[in-house]
This record gives sequence, structure tokens and C-alpha cells, in this order.
Amino acid sequence: MIYLIGGARPNFMKIAAISRAFEKYDINYEIIHTGQHYDYNMDKIFFEEFGLKKPLVHLEVGSGPHGEQTAKIMERFERLCFDARPSMVFTVGDVNSTMAAALVAAKMHIPIAHQEAGMRSHDMKMPEEVNRIVTDHVSDFLFPISPKDQSNLHMEGIDRDKIYLVGDPMIDNLLYYIDKIPDMTCEKYILVELHRPANVDDKDKLKTILQALDKLRDHAQILFPLHPRTRKMIEEFELTDLLKNVECWDPIGYFEFIKYMKNATVVITDSDGIQQETSILNIPCVSIRDTTNIGYTVKYGTNVLVEVNINKIFAAATYPLYHDPFKSNFPKQLKKLNDGNASERIAEVLINVKKKFFI
Ligand code: UD1
Repeated sequence: MIYLIGGARPNFMKIAAISRAFEKYDINYEIIHTGQHYDYNMDKIFFEEFGLKKPLVHLEVGSGPHGEQTAKIMERFERLCFDARPSMVFTVGDVNSTMAAALVAAKMHIPIAHQEAGMRSHDMKMPEEVNRIVTDHVSDFLFPISPKDQSNLHMEGIDRDKIYLVGDPMIDNLLYYIDKIPDMTCEKYILVELHRPANVDDKDKLKTILQALDKLRDHAQILFPLHPRTRKMIEEFELTDLLKNVECWDPIGYFEFIKYMKNATVVITDSDGIQQETSILNIPCVSIRDTTNIGYTVKYGTNVLVEVNINKIFAAATYPLYHDPFKSNFPKQLKKLNDGNASERIAEVLINVKKKFFI
């Protein structure tokens, strides 16, 4: 029995594609939900939209400081593993739930798989970078999404026999649903999704970003589904006035988000996943980040990085409003890795080791 670990919003798109592949290949799995995210729009909506199976166990950890949240997941997941002894713990992404589950499994000598292995921002101030490095170094099956991530693992000395370059289940999921999502005919608009602590927990940076959005409003409508962290910080820093001309919403589900992303003239974000999805869909993307973990989106895709500066954000975001958009130009290998079958390649790897691990 494989335990597939999910906890936070960006996990569920990957779990959806991996579950479909596990079902197709008749691989025995259960979803374990840590409860890192718990609001309907950050969690249950994805189970409903993707038809995911109900989690076998819900650890109900909720929000909290990193140490506390990680410790709660570890304590509760360890208890579960003591009783149930899964044959493998399968982790995705880079959230606290990913690292916590991997650490528990490592200490109990339960084989660990990590999807999205090898991704690096080389910025240890990002909590996700710590989660990625720790998870990779205790994992037995590492599934990078790109050749760059694979070579990061090689450079860190991880045994090459453990690494399987398969591509990206999040893109599998996007390609699975994209044609079912309607096009819209509407005026030009900019879609915004921001939630990184480096941007939204710093008052000056958050203010600068909101001032840039306010300035952009003279050129296009701004649609801004607010992540709970972002909403909380805007209120705490008393910056709500800067949003008076911006269309703010609660977080939206996958289908709605993809619909707005697919039809946007430009997307402004600090999310990893959205940088990838926009490049696949040929939508111009302005990433408010100093570094990106997904260099291929800048090199071959539609993504540009900008620092937190009103004029730079404004210039990058207005360009696609008045010029023909750039198109992605992926080399052959990246096209192949983003062909929508990464999860099946993962399933095939696991089937091949089935006897050894009694999956
Ligand atoms: C987490 C991940 C981040 C991921 C993001 C996607 C870590 C370290 N960070 O960041 O990598 O990109 O999820 O959303 O794992 N909150 C709610 N409702 C919820 C969940 C959270 O209101 O359902 C609020 C709480 O006040 C909480 C805050 O949002 O304190 C932040 O949530 P948290 O899970 O700590 O981090 P994220 O910023 O969501």
C-alpha cells in the first residue's frame, strides 16, 4: 500500500494526475491528508473537482509556525505509520507536509518517493528550499520534472540509480483538463496570484506591488483571487485602500483559475506552478521573484522575472498588453517531458520495483 501525501493547495493538482495513473496501473494507494490547508477553497474544492478519493486519514494539523506545523504532522503521521506500515510514502512538491512525511518515513525505513525532486531556487531563506533539500536527501525514488532538476541532484551527490527523469504531473493535469475549459470573449485583463512570504509578509514590498497593480488598472482590468496569507497581510498592514480599483476575490477553484489563466493577456504571480502552466499555455507571465526554481520557463517559455519595483512591474506587465505575445520555444526533450504522461512514467517505475517493495 502506497501512502500518497497531500496537505496544501499545490499538492492536489499533482495528486490528481498521479492518482489517475495509479488507478490505470492498478497500484494500491490511499491519500493521507495532513490538513495543512483546510478552507473549502484551498482544499475540498479540489477533491470535488478532480474526483479524488476520500483521504484514508486526515491528520487535521491546521496552520501554525513552521516548527509547530511540521512537528504536528510528524507526530500524527508517525503514529499512523507505526500501526499501518505502508510499503511506500509518496510525497509531492515542497510544502511542509512533504518534508514532514518524508522525515517520518526515513526514520522508520519506509521507502520514500518524491515527485518534483531536484528543484532548487538556491535561496535557503525560502521555506520550500529547505523542504526540497531535506526531502530529496532522504528519498529512495526521485522524480525530477526537468533535466536541470536532475542535474541539481547529480551535483548534490545523490545516487543516480534513484533518479528517474519523468516530467511533471502538474502539467499532466493541466493538459487533461485544458480542452474542457471554455474560452471567454472579453476585454483584456491581468490575472494576479501572489502569496510568497518574501513578497507579502514585507510591508514595503507588498505596498509597492499593490501600487504597481493600481497603476496598471489604467490599462487593463485586474483580477486578483486573494490567497489567505495575502489577504491577512494586506489587512494587517492597512493597505486595503490600494485595492479599491482591483477586482478582489476569495481563492478560486482549479477550473475557474485555469479558465481565467487561459484567457488572460498577462499573469502576474510569485507561484512556481503558475510560471510553468503559463509557459505551457503561451500566456505571458510576470514573476515577482529574484530567482526562479523553474529556469526553463524563463529560457524557453513566456516567463520574465522582475524585482519588487513599481516601474519594472508596470513595464513588464504592460508590454504584452500592446505587443504580440512571446511564444514558448521548448527544446525537444522538454516537449517530451511535458507531454501529459509524466504520471504514467512514474507508475511504470513503481510497477518495475513492485516485487521488491510489495506495493
Ligand atoms: C503553503 C506552502 C507554499 C505553497 C502555498 C500554496 C509551506 C512552507 N508553504 O504556503 O509552498 O506555495 O502553501 O498555497 O508549506 N490559511 C487559511 N486557510 C487555509 C490555509 C491557510 O486561512 O486553508 C492561512 C492561515 O492564516 C495561515 C496562512 O494562511 O497562517 C498561511 O498558510 P500556510 O499553510 O502556513 O502557508 P502558505 O502561505 O499557504
